Amino acid sequence: MLSCRRPSGRPYAARFFPLLPLLLLLLLLATAAGPVSAGSGELYSPVDGVTLLDFRQLRAAVFDPGRQRHWLLQVYHAYCGHCIAYSGAFKKLASKLWPWRYTLRIGVINVAKQSNARAMRHFGLSGVPSLLYVAPNCSWASGFSAALPRDTSELPERLLDLMEPFVPQLRPLQLGETADCDFILEEPRPGVLSRGLILEALYIRSLRWRASADSAPAVRLSRVAADGSSAPAGSASDAASLRRLIGLKQPTRPTPTGDTAPSSPMAPRPPTQADLKSALIRALVSDVALAGPGRPRVWRAARDVARLAAPLLPAAGRLAAAMPESLPAALAGEASAAVWQHLLAESGFPEKPPDNWVACAGSRPYFRGYPCGLWQLFHSLTALRLKTGDAVAQPVAPVMRAFIVNCFSCSRCGRNFARESVDLPAEPMPARQELLWLWRLHNRVNRRLAGRPSEDPQHPKVQFPPAALCPRCGDSEDAVVEFLTRWYSATD
Ligand SMILES: *[C@@H]1O[C@H](CO)[C@@H](O)[C@H](O)[C@H]1NC(C)=O
Repeated sequence: MLSCRRPSGRPYAARFFPLLPLLLLLLLLATAAGPVSAGSGELYSPVDGVTLLDFRQLRAAVFDPGRQRHWLLQVYHAYCGHCIAYSGAFKKLASKLWPWRYTLRIGVINVAKQSNARAMRHFGLSGVPSLLYVAPNCSWASGFSAALPRDTSELPERLLDLMEPFVPQLRPLQLGETADCDFILEEPRPGVLSRGLILEALYIRSLRWRASADSAPAVRLSRVAADGSSAPAGSASDAASLRRLIGLKQPTRPTPTGDTAPSSPMAPRPPTQADLKSALIRALVSDVALAGPGRPRVWRAARDVARLAAPLLPAAGRLAAAMPESLPAALAGEASAAVWQHLLAESGFPEKPPDNWVACAGSRPYFRGYPCGLWQLFHSLTALRLKTGDAVAQPVAPVMRAFIVNCFSCSRCGRNFARESVDLPAEPMPARQELLWLWRLHNRVNRRLAGRPSEDPQHPKVQFPPAALCPRCGDSEDAVVEFLTRWYSATD
């Protein structure tokens, strides 16, 4: 019923034998590893009761062949608003499951770190946050056992079901089976409370459980004597009372890190060169690699962004010039990652995104940063197009949409963006109309996201520009155009 899934990676050499020498060279270039990027902030810390994992340690830490442990892994991206919003619930879950830690470990991997990006391909994942259950008999090559739903209220039961084949004590006592234990717990199915306590007490008390027929949620406890006879020992419907009845210590749980960000809002700042470059480099070096440059839609979107951004970053121009219209079929698939890294290196891109945020810096490392920089980049490109003239400069909006939908590392954000931008006209818009279209769309998104956990309290998602920055923008479209052109051209 439960088998381990094969990770998606297959050896390149099997399929591209004629290209082997070239590919070996490309692979050498691709696998040169460097230090971990400092800017792609962590959402979790060890005080949350989770283990912070890096892709390079994963094999030794999680897939150690002699292990008894089960793992719940969360693969997340520190810049993804959904991952930030989810982190509160996940920390609560980790705290709740802390008493199971001798059997179940909880690990998190941040794929915003360049050195961890391979986790997506290794496990064949297409979105974040992703939850994976790794049974003790899964090997590095065989992968994980199950992808789990994100709803943290269902997870304890789901995990207990998954662990049951490996922990015989979790199976309900059958009729006529001798109870060789200290206590029997009786609870209606699925017995989450009983089975949770069995796991918690695994090395201290011997407990078994039996599915009770009546529907009362309370757990009835019986003490088992040496001669096998049992006598009622009380009942309770919460873990703390049951622990007292059984004589278990109450666990000291980790206290999840709260958000203590200072909340006084700061004034918005126009984009800086450093932010635009950081966003462009992360988009091409990190997101495109995650999305799979071998897919024709990803390749085309990356090429169009590079071409459009050439005036902002010469390396982007060199990259666009070096990219064929489409990736040759022989280099698609697995080999495309190596080809892509080679092209980036040849064009002068750094190996890892600098994440050097200035105007887009958040009050916490995981706030703002890349998503903010990407918005700024496309706003700046619409302003640049208006100044350059429609006749010369290429439209920005279709390129932006194709990139966000096909390449952006937050795939749910990509789907939301596709919905938000359905009004994008099929015909290219004149530059002025395009500048205003993107401005309106961004304000709609801000309205939708205001007050969500991913909002930086120091940078509330307000309608832009606030009256303090542009008093006339409220009643004149010309004033808006004039303001936006100035704001998004003022880089440094
Ligand atoms: C791991 O154990 C489960 C449960 O016993 C079994 O169904 C599954 O086939 C095993 N997987 C491997 C790869 O051995």
